[in-house]
Amino acid sequence: MVKKNTCVFISGQGSNLRNLIFHSRDDKFPVKISLVISNNKKAFGINYAKKYHIPFILINTNDQNYENKILLNLKKYKIDFICLAGYMRIISGNLIKNFNNRIINIHPSLLPKFKGLNTFSRMLKKKEVKAGCSVHYVNKKLDGGNVIIRKTFFIDVNDDEQILKKKTQKLEYRALPEAIIKIFRNS
Ligand code: GRF
Repeated sequence: MVKKNTCVFISGQGSNLRNLIFHSRDDKFPVKISLVISNNKKAFGINYAKKYHIPFILINTNDQNYENKILLNLKKYKIDFICLAGYMRIISGNLIKNFNNRIINIHPSLLPKFKGLNTFSRMLKKKEVKAGCSVHYVNKKLDGGNVIIRKTFFIDVNDDEQILKKKTQKLEYRALPEAIIKIFRNS
């Protein structure tokens, strides 16, 4: 199997990146993590790129040219697929156009519910019964592309934001690899 060269975009902890790196070691997993891009030089996730010898690029989104830098590097590393994993910036229309249907994102809610930030506090305020995560294609609408996979759990009366985050992330570590397998199943 020829693995797809994949770039993971991060801004923070990078636990989903770490999980993907582990999965990508399996010969049957359809992607190879070939590049990591972070818009935050202090992102802890960069350590995983270093530790596992994956090239990484830091971008400064205040630079006028940052878009170009991203596109040039995606080309340089022959990237065919992009995975946003905790990347806290909106992806530009140009990048979406260049990677049409080849960018996915993991979001900590059952989309289309609770798009955007602060999902857990909003869920608790609304007294939701269920929580979970969604992997979806990225289009121009924030958290608005077609959903590939959702994973759900029931919210317990004692669940606070921290616990919800923990439970959600546990599901994310299954959802993201499963979504990738599903996408490339027939290719
Ligand atoms: C994840 O919970 C994801 O749903 C959200 O950002 C978080 C990133 O976590 N988009 P990590 O950086 O992968 O640990």
